Amino acid sequence: MSTKHQTLGEFIIENQSSFRYTSGELSRLLNSLRLAAKVVNHEVNKAGLVDILGAAGDVNIQGENQQKLDVYANEIFIQTLTKRNIVCGIASEEEDDFISINSQDEKHQNKYVVLIDPLDGSSNIDVNVSVGTIFSIYRRVTPVGTPVTMEDFLQKGSEQVAAGYIVYGTSTMLVYTTGHGVNGFTLNPAIGSFYLSHPNMTFPESGTIYSVNEGNYLDFPLGIKKYIKYCQEEAEDRPYTSRYIGSLVSDFHRNMIKGGIYMYPKGSRNPDGKLRLLYECNPMAFLAEQAGGKSSDGYTRTLDVQPTSLHQRVPFICGSKKMVEKAEQFMREFG
Ligand code: AHG
Ligand code: MN
Ligand code: MN
Ligand code: MN
Repeated sequence: MSTKHQTLGEFIIENQSSFRYTSGELSRLLNSLRLAAKVVNHEVNKAGLVDILGAAGDVNIQGENQQKLDVYANEIFIQTLTKRNIVCGIASEEEDDFISINSQDEKHQNKYVVLIDPLDGSSNIDVNVSVGTIFSIYRRVTPVGTPVTMEDFLQKGSEQVAAGYIVYGTSTMLVYTTGHGVNGFTLNPAIGSFYLSHPNMTFPESGTIYSVNEGNYLDFPLGIKKYIKYCQEEAEDRPYTSRYIGSLVSDFHRNMIKGGIYMYPKGSRNPDGKLRLLYECNPMAFLAEQAGGKSSDGYTRTLDVQPTSLHQRVPFICGSKKMVEKAEQFMREFG
């Protein structure tokens, strides 16, 4: 079969033998995420027609005003994974604590935990700009048959078994890795199936796009300020182009296809940066490395950071290898 006609469902089954553990559990989990993605996609596409725009009225653990679609997407992903008895635990950007899924069935032996940013780029919902979903999957480290503990969720990103995102854009795509490269699937809305459209996605080694919220410029560390000035200088292939959507998923997706660097540094208002290590940075870092890119906080590889809390934030520099290395050089020199 030519890859053009291969569905995500077929791809998952065909590649099952490359998984580190081949019980079929990870395949079922990926299939559940695929299903939830289609449900959320349907709702995102209706935004504006039905009453799902705007704030939900609550503030989440992150101190952010929850949007109705944040809440909806969170419920869909959690429900899909719990009802189908696929995982033993879930942590979400929108939930204060992790959820332990305890089956009454003594034989219940689920081994995976999922960490999720159900709706990424909330601030873009009301203005019809692309949003996304980010997921990260680990094998539990505590024994099966016992309730999951914090230890199962606070694993280094390098322990991820799979990670990916869905971008609800001009077309809807699901992009994921199980540690054997990155593949992208586009939803055919008429049929309701994802098709392999972007096999073996790779970051160009270098690029000409930099993505950063420059409104925070005065607040940035000197190394980042100097690197931004470097991007703007007229020399060699510079000045680079500035592109910032404000949805990490979309900014990352564009940079992976075209070549670029994404930065969310620390600042006095965000002393650890803004992005969440477990729901945003680690899955994107895993994808970046699998696509030949690089990710760090300026000094330390993102995937090597030992998480200490569920909603921990870290500075995040991610994208084309050579560009990230250059930014790191500025951080080392100027701090
Ligand atoms: P979320 O909508 O899941 O809370 O994530 C928002 C994140 C990320 O998507 C985006 O890149 C970044 O916040 C934008 O932040 P600024 O508006 O501060 O630039
Ligand atoms: Mn949020
Ligand atoms: Mn997010
Ligand atoms: Mn979110």
